[in-house]
Amino acid sequence: MKVIRRISDVRSCLNKERKGGKTIGFVPTMGFFHQGHLSLMKLARKENNVVVVSSFVNPTQFGPGEDYQIYPRDEKSDCQKAEEVGVDYFFAPEVQEMYPETNLSWVEVENLSEPLCGRFRPGHFRGVATVVAKLFNIVQPDTAYFGEKDYQQLLVIKKMVKDLNFSIKIIGCPTVREEDGLAMSSRNSYLTLEERKAASLIPQSLRKTIQAFEDGERDAKKLIDLAKKHLVSPLLSLEYIEVRDPETLEELPRVEKEALFQLAIKVGKARLIDHIILGRNETYF
Ligand code: PAJ
Repeated sequence: MKVIRRISDVRSCLNKERKGGKTIGFVPTMGFFHQGHLSLMKLARKENNVVVVSSFVNPTQFGPGEDYQIYPRDEKSDCQKAEEVGVDYFFAPEVQEMYPETNLSWVEVENLSEPLCGRFRPGHFRGVATVVAKLFNIVQPDTAYFGEKDYQQLLVIKKMVKDLNFSIKIIGCPTVREEDGLAMSSRNSYLTLEERKAASLIPQSLRKTIQAFEDGERDAKKLIDLAKKHLVSPLLSLEYIEVRDPETLEELPRVEKEALFQLAIKVGKARLIDHIILGRNETYF
């Protein structure tokens, strides 16, 4: 596996690969790999001749007072893991390389960026869309892989690719979970033992919601209240639970067909998100 720091080196390596007729699969990340990240790389490995992973903690997607400074990093271990799953190029630029001067151009995906996490993290999806657009222009992959775990991010990226005519296929990959059902996240490393125990209430409450839905409950408020009832702990502070249309993200009072049931919760220093798509069985766990 080749570790690359410079944009110009990514371009020259990948130009050669493209000239040789190779297809390029790309997995953008912020590093500190867990099995969720590795599942994207494994799929990219299966489907492409060349696999590129980027590891860049992108400052423009963090708000003031968020965890940019303390975001976990372990490049040595990440390189080992990436190499083990067959990654060819590991692009890990410095901030200076990605943002050499004040950025004045931004990618704003309206509407889809505004509700849910967008309401609590103003500017977050603008930062995500902008850095992913930059990475797409640098890597120019055929296919890029994203986790469904960050469902709103996946929608934002898909819409950006359509609206701006990127010639890149976007693949969404299922959420990888711990044994108790907690979605894997680099931010889980912030949790103390006690907080980690409390965090398992998240998958438990989602399972109760699935059960209620399968028993016939269709009223959004009732489903939300039920989930809230199972999220009571002094260590958990609920940011939101909402029921929205899985494509448009418009709020739904009732689940008629499919509905995104998503929540964000603060647990100690971590802000955790999770979701299920009610009415779409393969997304249950
Ligand atoms: P990061 O949080 O490192 O996640 C990188 C990719 O891994 C994202 O597509 C994310 O959805 C996916 N992922 C994270 N946890 C997962 C899990 N438990 N199961 C499956 N996939 C999972 O998301 C970002 O970085 C950044 O916003 C980025 C897109 C790289 C832009 O900076």
